[in-house]
Amino acid sequence: MLVLGIETTCDETAAAVVERQADGSARILSNVVRSQTGEHAPYGGVVPEIAARAHVDLLDGIVARAMKESGVDFPQLSGVAAAAGPGLIGGVIVGLTTAKAIALVHRTPLIAVNHLEAHALTPRLTGRLEFPYCLFLASGGHTQIVAVLGVGNYVRLGTTVDDAMGEAFDKVAKMLGLPYPGGPQVERAATSGDATRFTFPRPMLGRPDANFSLSGLKTAVRNEAGRIDPLQPQDISDLCAGFQAAVLEATADRLSVGLKLFQERFGTPRALVAAGGVAANQAIRGALEDVAARARTPLIIPPPDLCTDNGAMIAWAGAERLAVGLTDTLEAPPRARWLLDAEAQAPAGFANSRAGF
Ligand code: KG4
Ligand code: ZN
Repeated sequence: MLVLGIETTCDETAAAVVERQADGSARILSNVVRSQTGEHAPYGGVVPEIAARAHVDLLDGIVARAMKESGVDFPQLSGVAAAAGPGLIGGVIVGLTTAKAIALVHRTPLIAVNHLEAHALTPRLTGRLEFPYCLFLASGGHTQIVAVLGVGNYVRLGTTVDDAMGEAFDKVAKMLGLPYPGGPQVERAATSGDATRFTFPRPMLGRPDANFSLSGLKTAVRNEAGRIDPLQPQDISDLCAGFQAAVLEATADRLSVGLKLFQERFGTPRALVAAGGVAANQAIRGALEDVAARARTPLIIPPPDLCTDNGAMIAWAGAERLAVGLTDTLEAPPRARWLLDAEAQAPAGFANSRAGF
């Protein structure tokens, strides 16, 4: 089957065409991503109204390009998928409405995809992986450990009680005067830094649940940075290195608990999978290798351009849902908040303004 996928939940306008064979194998026929970084950089973060307007301006052209590059005509599509949330509602409406129009005109099924589900299913796009597996999802809006049991069947084992991990990277970058988006900047600065110069807290270390907390660590970085005036490039590198080392240690600890909880509830996972923008971080990849090796489970991390937001993951999630008969009507609502695990509750003390996940 051939599925067109549309992604507009944050600051990437993206469309892709993906083919799924009956045996579950996949081929990406086109994958066009237009990042709006340039539009948002002057403000140091994503401005929702600017994002929504940019999606309106860009999406038709991006869809046309994705279709052209794939060599597929609209009548050949088996379905059209759009990320219907969670995300910035203006952008979500743009993508979902466009998908509905295409579905209506070309009489093809609509699949309203949860953006988090698309991240969760990406390792089945990039390789052959059977259920169940343990997912570490870390991006600008979410930080979760999820048991992926089947298409549409997810159990959240841990989540952040405050900031998302990518958000913490972005905020640290901003407070140190590094440009947006901050994650890659912090990673780059950290490579020439001394991680031992500052001792930052390792949040939640040793706790029996698999939750994360990042806002205290972020505040600790702010406090140390505030004591140095003026901040020199080496100070910034050392602060970034110290911050990243604390994130790595906390992540390794939280994930080892998450894998233990997985084992207790669902048996041995087929793999530990990392997804979301933060999984593009090479140092985090290294830390995850250690965690996976200790748990004797394979580690799978999709290539960086499929970890950050893209249309191929939406098309693929659409194809996976379509393959098991899950489609949506043209009434499907755009959703700013949309839990992957319908049973999951916000953890005690949950205080995140950005992430309704
Ligand atoms: O998945 P994604 O592209 O968009 C969301 O759904 O949020 O993730 C973007 C997030 C941003 O917060 C960005 O700073 C972070 O992922 N990120 C990184 C790196 N590359 C992107 N964080 C740390 N290190 C990186 N190399
Ligand atoms: Zn994402």
